[in-house]
Amino acid sequence: MSVNMAVVDPPEETTASLVARNRIVCFVNDELSAAALRKGLDGSNLVIRRGTIRHATRMLETDTDLYALVTDISGLDDPFTELERLASVCPPDVKVALIGDNREITFYRELMEIGLTEYLPTPITRDIVLDQLRPKLVGDAAPVQNDRGGHVVSICGAQGGAGATSIAINLAIQLAETTKAKVALLDLHLQNGETAVMLGVRPGPGLRIALENPMRADTLFLERAAIEVNDRVCLIAGDEDLDAKLDITEAGVRHVLGLLRQRFNYVVVDVPVPFPASIYPVIQMSRHVMVLLEAEVTGLRNAHALRNAVTNIAGKDRVFTLLNRAGRPGGLPRATIVKALGAEPDMVIPDLGKGMTQAVNLGVPALKHVSGLRRHLAPIVREITGVGANKKAGWKRWLGL
Ligand SMILES: Nc1ncnc2c1ncn2[C@@H]1O[C@H](COP(=O)(O)OP(=O)(O)OP(=O)(O)O)[C@@H](O)[C@H]1O
Ligand SMILES: [Mg+2]
Repeated sequence: MSVNMAVVDPPEETTASLVARNRIVCFVNDELSAAALRKGLDGSNLVIRRGTIRHATRMLETDTDLYALVTDISGLDDPFTELERLASVCPPDVKVALIGDNREITFYRELMEIGLTEYLPTPITRDIVLDQLRPKLVGDAAPVQNDRGGHVVSICGAQGGAGATSIAINLAIQLAETTKAKVALLDLHLQNGETAVMLGVRPGPGLRIALENPMRADTLFLERAAIEVNDRVCLIAGDEDLDAKLDITEAGVRHVLGLLRQRFNYVVVDVPVPFPASIYPVIQMSRHVMVLLEAEVTGLRNAHALRNAVTNIAGKDRVFTLLNRAGRPGGLPRATIVKALGAEPDMVIPDLGKGMTQAVNLGVPALKHVSGLRRHLAPIVREITGVGANKKAGWKRWLGL
């Protein structure tokens, strides 16, 4: 049968609606999940909102222009009822991934059987999202670190005195305590470095020699240059004269980092800012680069520039903004900080008072002296390692129960 049909072009889709349609919309209730999704799904058309599956269902009643939905079912007594409600308004071609506090494999299987794209038990981290969720939602291969070397974490202060050295030292110690792994603390401020002073030890010339001339740094370098902080943590630092003309080479930096990554599970680096070109390999090899700032105009301005520098050197998904000494009298209000950064800081450590400075003067790690520091470092340790932290209490608080 021939039908006389006028050929009509399909109604032209506006660019706006096409853009809306490839959105990945996330409803989560805590900053760490939001940060993990932001980093892990970086590069996609991502919208992150505060809320749970109920908020997602409500949104879908009026807005179904999206490619995928990621939402939170933690704390729900009957998640399947909520999922039915969601399914009744969610177009079948929208991929749905969930995060939640149930860790049972049978629960996971039930969810997969009803057609969900993925389920991730909390806590989620950037690496979990990169490895498990990203391939299913975005489709590209996760940029995984495929060698077995230690995990490098760089700590950089956006402004002087932001707390980079304090955080580097205590993070190294807490990482070792939590994971029972071996941790190296590498201080790349060869002149005026403060890690050694804060730990009450005196470094030798080994690090400078190795960084200047990698041919001279064999495996014995570590035996000579590493100072034991405790059973699991070693400090590798220098103490060169202020008028020393250092000639640190990129090859030297690569070599030293390579040696450390063979021997230690984690390498926490106190990085000088601005970065000399010779230490770019450290940023490139880092899985996490923490940009620390205080709630000051200088910190905000520099944090922006520092984040850009890290992104240019190593990619956007590595950078985490850490607001230190939050709530310090005279500091900028949180709303100003969020506005200037363009997002919530990924991590926050409050001002912990004079005990932090006392610890410096005593030459002991602040973890031993300031109660509360451990609790505030826990989410950072969790982001880096994927282990630790009290999930249940956290969810209850986030859900306002
Ligand atoms: N969360 C905090 N609460 C209170 N005091 C803190 C906090 N973090 C760091 N401090 C204190 O701030 C001071 C500066 O810290 P630190 O030396 O670690 O900063 P930095 O960024 O390494 O400085 P620099 O630019 O000199 O390298 C120290 O006295 C430290 O004890
Ligand atoms: Mg310092």
